[in-house]
Amino acid sequence: MYSQEEQRNLYELSKSLLNSPFVGGGRGEAADLFADISPSVGGGRGEVAERAEDLRRVLRYHEWRYYVGNDPVISDFEYDQLYKQLQTIEAAHPQLVTPDSPTQRVGKDLTENAAQVAHLTPMLSLDNSYNAEDLNDFDESVKKLCGLEKDADVEYCVEPKYDGGTIALVYENDRFIRAATRGNGYVGEEITANIRTLRSVPLQAAFSKRGISKVELRGEALIRKDIFEKINKTRQEAGEAVFANPRNAATGGLRMKDPREAAERGLEAFLYQLGYAIDSEGNNLLGNFKSHDESIHLLESLSFKTPLAKGGTKQHLPATKTCRNIAEVIQFCTDWQEYRDEYPYELDGIVVKVNSLELQEKCGSTSHHPRWAIAFKFKARQATTRLRDVEFQVGKTGAVTPVAKLEPVALAGVIVQNVSMHNEEFIRSKDLRIGDQVLVERAGDVIPYIVKSLVELRNGSEQVVHYPKNCPVCHSVLVKPEDEAIWRCENAECEAQVLARMVFHTSKHAMDIEGLGESTIEKFYKLGWLHSIADLYRLDYEAIAKLEGFGEKSAANLKAAVEKAKQNPVHRLFHSLSIHHLGQRTSKLLAAEIGHVLDLRGWDLEKYQTIKDIGPVAAKNVSNFFLNPSNVELLETMERLGVNLRQTDEDKKADVNTDGPLYGKSILFTGTLSQMTREEAEKKAAAAGASLMSGVSKHLSILVVGEKAGSKLKKAQALETVEIWTEAEFLDRIIENA
Ligand code: IVH
Repeated sequence: MYSQEEQRNLYELSKSLLNSPFVGGGRGEAADLFADISPSVGGGRGEVAERAEDLRRVLRYHEWRYYVGNDPVISDFEYDQLYKQLQTIEAAHPQLVTPDSPTQRVGKDLTENAAQVAHLTPMLSLDNSYNAEDLNDFDESVKKLCGLEKDADVEYCVEPKYDGGTIALVYENDRFIRAATRGNGYVGEEITANIRTLRSVPLQAAFSKRGISKVELRGEALIRKDIFEKINKTRQEAGEAVFANPRNAATGGLRMKDPREAAERGLEAFLYQLGYAIDSEGNNLLGNFKSHDESIHLLESLSFKTPLAKGGTKQHLPATKTCRNIAEVIQFCTDWQEYRDEYPYELDGIVVKVNSLELQEKCGSTSHHPRWAIAFKFKARQATTRLRDVEFQVGKTGAVTPVAKLEPVALAGVIVQNVSMHNEEFIRSKDLRIGDQVLVERAGDVIPYIVKSLVELRNGSEQVVHYPKNCPVCHSVLVKPEDEAIWRCENAECEAQVLARMVFHTSKHAMDIEGLGESTIEKFYKLGWLHSIADLYRLDYEAIAKLEGFGEKSAANLKAAVEKAKQNPVHRLFHSLSIHHLGQRTSKLLAAEIGHVLDLRGWDLEKYQTIKDIGPVAAKNVSNFFLNPSNVELLETMERLGVNLRQTDEDKKADVNTDGPLYGKSILFTGTLSQMTREEAEKKAAAAGASLMSGVSKHLSILVVGEKAGSKLKKAQALETVEIWTEAEFLDRIIENA
């Protein structure tokens, strides 16, 4: 931070530099003038060097005023003049260029492949809270961990939870030397050249005043909402793809290959955590700080942009505060929830941190998050828009799903226009009509859904949604199985189904054939190359190489991906066949029972039901599938084309990790998980040796509960035999025991 006196001096100096006689001249003239000052003429060179240093000092000061404080004291034009003066001197005297000169932010070298760099200390995540009760629980656990009385007051710092790209900056001997993305928390991608272009990041900072010789700072790179909108507008006008939200634009900007492009994204960096600090002997200096807010004030004083920076429209509500107790924290979080939209940057919550570093130490951390901090997540965002139409889409098993076509609306940073309406009952129970104004919400900031229609706004022109009687694609009559909520097209040859089955067959969780996504499959289908999934294994790669947008290389890559998929274990093949109710897990169970896929031809219904966890519906569907000669023929053809139908002993073994920390346990996930998707969680659990269950029963050992867990949690609690874990506990258990 600059004292008032320093600021006055720098301001005066700026004006005098701007007014000195040779400034008015063009670039060339000034350069000549400096070049004329011969080093041998008494002190001439020294004068130039001095002037360069003066210019660097004033430019740094104005960058700080403008980019950190949003409060410039000179005009952009004047800044540019000063900048040009420095550039001119440096061009004439390259030896005077210092690496931390304001002119040295944008390098021209492209980053080919970003190097991986290890963080000096791991970058942990944060645990989440959603309401006052959660925050009180957090406070209670902090007190317990610190050995404090129940009614003691713990001081907390609250600050915005910025929604951008996480960064780690390293300064050594007061110079900025390295920046990295968060990556997996241990190792990130090097992005130094791009971060140098951010004028809110000082290239030099006097950490040595505090005896620090090397330091790692954590923060977030963000794009202000209004700048983001301008960027998108420009891109749209130029016919380029627009970004979905400021976060995507920011994280993409951080990883640009060309720093000049990164510089154009309008990124800013907020620093909110001191992760590591040592002196020249390697001693840890973090212990020299008493509190979190002391370390943030240090960063602020060294010209960094921190949560203390101004930047809201309602200045009476600061972006950060040191609260005396959890009650103040709760008040702050509640107030901010209302204020969120007025803040110039996208936030997804508030971070609450124990202020005393001594108490932080006492709390410690899990391998996933510190126990002294928690994120308070804002409520899902809501918006209203018009329901323009309802479209009916046919899925791979013939299920017809209504999809709402909405007038595009921005919701928690993304544009929403297509939203699933699930089934007929959903539309009927909510009485949704075409033309209605509807309330849309993004629960947990992920999947948008329609909450209700605003009946009071109807004008009489709204139309009831008519569910089709016939398939919108092949026009066969739709049927609704008694036990299902969904209407189905039962024509297995329906074009929509055939295509959807092919798309599913090649997808990540099925055969995982890279390069054969929806648009490619549609293209090949239209060319008449695809009639059944067997055709995916006899593509004409020479013809593909000649297609527009393909070429030799992508055809060769596609061939390699298809050849690789032919060797997949058979459980992937089972799953890829789109047999209704045969999921990834049941496919594995089934695969474990056979030697060859076509063994199932001889199975009767009862035999399927002897397999634990294969329910009667899945059993019936698989049995029907193998009773149908055309399906058997399809599999035979695929085998002839090289697709593996044999279950090896190795594949069988690979399915269960008997050494895993959760071996012998059965597990189920419920509610919305915040650190990973349900699929990732199930994968992790399976890799740890657990068997996955589909419902709560006395066979279940562990229930992992996410946000908004409902009936499954209640049922498990009632059973008393089920262990109930939070998501964080689950992550801890699989890592600690790994
Ligand atoms: S503190 C060890 N403070 O939130 C403490 N994190 O889930 C961990 N984040 O990607 C981080 N604003 O980058 C902290 N004021 C803030 C934050 C913040 C945003 C991000 C962080 C990480 C995620 C944690």
